[in-house]
Amino acid sequence: MKILVTGASGLLGLNLSLQMHQTHNIIGVDRASLANTPFPLINADLLDADAIQRILDESQPDALIHCAANANVDACELDPSNAAILNAVLPGQLASACSERDIRFLHISTDAVFDGTKDGIYTEDDAPNPLGVYAQTKLDGEYSVLDTNPNATIARVNFFGWSLAGTQSLSEFFVNNLGAGKQINGFDDVYFCPLFVGDLADILIGVLEKSLSGLYHAVGSRAITKYEFGREIAKTFGFDASLIQPISVSDSGLTAKRSQNLRLAVHKLSTALERDIPDFSTGLQKFYTQYQQAYPQKMRSYQQVG
Ligand SMILES: NC(=O)c1ccc[n+]([C@@H]2O[C@H](COP(=O)([O-])OP(=O)(O)OC[C@H]3O[C@@H](n4cnc5c(N)ncnc54)[C@H](OP(=O)(O)O)[C@@H]3O)[C@@H](O)[C@H]2O)c1
Repeated sequence: MKILVTGASGLLGLNLSLQMHQTHNIIGVDRASLANTPFPLINADLLDADAIQRILDESQPDALIHCAANANVDACELDPSNAAILNAVLPGQLASACSERDIRFLHISTDAVFDGTKDGIYTEDDAPNPLGVYAQTKLDGEYSVLDTNPNATIARVNFFGWSLAGTQSLSEFFVNNLGAGKQINGFDDVYFCPLFVGDLADILIGVLEKSLSGLYHAVGSRAITKYEFGREIAKTFGFDASLIQPISVSDSGLTAKRSQNLRLAVHKLSTALERDIPDFSTGLQKFYTQYQQAYPQKMRSYQQVG
């Protein structure tokens, strides 16, 4: 299967492409963040007028995984029109172009479409209620994808791993600060279901190989608070967990509102894939193994200089 991956320099797109390029024909779409990757790249700003037709003409893929987005929750709050174009309008345009060309379209959405007020675990049948610009535009993106391409797949994700810059993910925040012996805060009243990005990559390829369509929650199978997640990272890496202070998200001073309960059920996904969905604990071991094998440095070597 030839797979075109947008957002190939991003946390998900880069990890997925690096992991999958030896077993799948991966082509990344990048707007000049990357160099020397072991998989081919097409250079494009997806907001350029002819970009969608051009990337599809050049790559002729069987499937497209759309990872590009404005995924910075606070930046979206500050620039809602950019967030709307990138997160809501563009996915619909890509989904439509893929439908016309019979290309499978897998769209990446977010767990944050829920407001977190449910007393329990969210399933795909629960009504979303986004709390901020990022979450609203991502939900609008889901609607625009399904409007134009009913055979598309939407995966609502939450994941951790090593990024190109080394400073992007929550997991890197904990490693970088704890490794430097710095005191940091961790929210003890925000629950989420983090999945190791390598496990997510396996799942997304499985979704394409099984030709699943529709909406799926693709998160880790166990919930944890952000504070406890930091402590688990400290334990895995041998750092001092007492450097993490438990605080409430309401004392954080963050720009965008955060949902406090993002426990999502993965039953629909595990049934469709006929396999268990991993939780964060095995993923943290893999994340640590990558650290021991200098994977973060390897990531950085793909950064375009200048
Ligand atoms: N990280 C998480 O835990 C998380 C949680 C829930 C959902 N998600 C969703 O998962 C997906 C991937 O997230 P991520 O964390 O991997 O995001 P990310 O690291 O911020 O990457 C975003 C990617 O989009 C690309 N991009 C942005 N604007 C573009 C444009 N105009 N043309 C071409 N490419 C453009 C960026 O390229 P440049 O390098 O050129 O900027 C980058 O490769 C997103 O849909 C996000 O909403 C992420």
